[in-house]
Amino acid sequence: MRALGIESSCDETAAAVVELASGDALARPILHANVVHGQVEVHARYGGVVPELASRAHIRNIQPVIAQAFQQSGLTPRQIDCVAVTAGPGLIGGLLTGMAAAKGLALALECPLVGVHHMEGHLMSPFLDPNAADMDFPFVALLVSGGHTLLLHARAFGEYHPLGRTRDDAVGEAFDKGARLLGLGYPGGPAIAALALGGDRQAMSFPRAMPGREQLDFSFSGLKTALRTFLGQHPERLQEESWRRDVAASYQEAIVDVLASKSLAACRQTGEKRLVVAGGVGANQRLRELLQERAGQAGIQVYFPPLSLCTDNGAMIALAGLRRLEAGQRDGWGLNVRARWPVEKIIEKKEGVWGIHPPGL
Ligand code: KG4
Ligand code: ZN
Repeated sequence: MRALGIESSCDETAAAVVELASGDALARPILHANVVHGQVEVHARYGGVVPELASRAHIRNIQPVIAQAFQQSGLTPRQIDCVAVTAGPGLIGGLLTGMAAAKGLALALECPLVGVHHMEGHLMSPFLDPNAADMDFPFVALLVSGGHTLLLHARAFGEYHPLGRTRDDAVGEAFDKGARLLGLGYPGGPAIAALALGGDRQAMSFPRAMPGREQLDFSFSGLKTALRTFLGQHPERLQEESWRRDVAASYQEAIVDVLASKSLAACRQTGEKRLVVAGGVGANQRLRELLQERAGQAGIQVYFPPLSLCTDNGAMIALAGLRRLEAGQRDGWGLNVRARWPVEKIIEKKEGVWGIHPPGL
């Protein structure tokens, strides 16, 4: 079975074609095409994503991106078996653009339409890594992006048990807001990571919000405030490059230290030996390094999707859609987008099973 996956929930217009051998639980997906059109140039001067500008860019880009995905795949639209689309959460304008395109295509091709929760898409990304052939359920997942910071126990496809989440800012926001305070560009994560290279991670001590060693919730707003206060106390040093490197390295360390400790605590609590890190912040090299080091000591294997699959993409949505279809789930034409689709509402226990239940008729 082949799916076209469409993702447009934030500032990436993306489409991909993925194939999964049906009826074979061990089959690895084949990635035929993966096209991502970013909007950094649209938002950079504003220091963050401007929703209205994002909507307009998605409208401009969606059709060329889908056409490019088909071209890259060497397949024709008639050769796909379903259209999977991010139904939420995200920015409403972008979601609506992706949904309209998906419905139009599915209707014209007379094939099933499957709505996907964006975070379930991220959960699928390690399965697309050809170097992780042994990847399988169950595992603990650390989902870290611009909008989410979540620890989940993924027991099987569609069976996710929430373990911890942020109580305030998402970790991507902590990077983006920290970058803004340091006068760096958007997106802030890569900018802080680049500035932190060569900086002293121990130079400053930023707070780690860790209410209890085994407590799995996160909090990042205090850290951001600590950075603002600290920078306010040293205005004369803000132009000093080596000092800025130390600040960036110490700030990044405070974030990744918390992410690593809680992820490993989640593995201890669930008894799982596999940890998946997904979402845009999963691209962070220092997080990868620290987790590999600490997980190795604890006998835990960490899976990081390749960088191109860590940030938003259509391939993860296509694969989640294929797995949903395989599980007998498809949506009607009444499928709608959800800008807010909180984890508490999606991951519900229905008929004794924890899962993401997509909106629809
Ligand atoms: O998953 P994603 O592409 O989009 C959302 O669903 O939010 O994540 C975007 C977030 C941004 O906050 C960006 O600053 C962060 O991921 N990010 C990083 C890195 N690359 C992207 N954060 C830290 N280090 C990176 N290398
Ligand atoms: Zn994302």
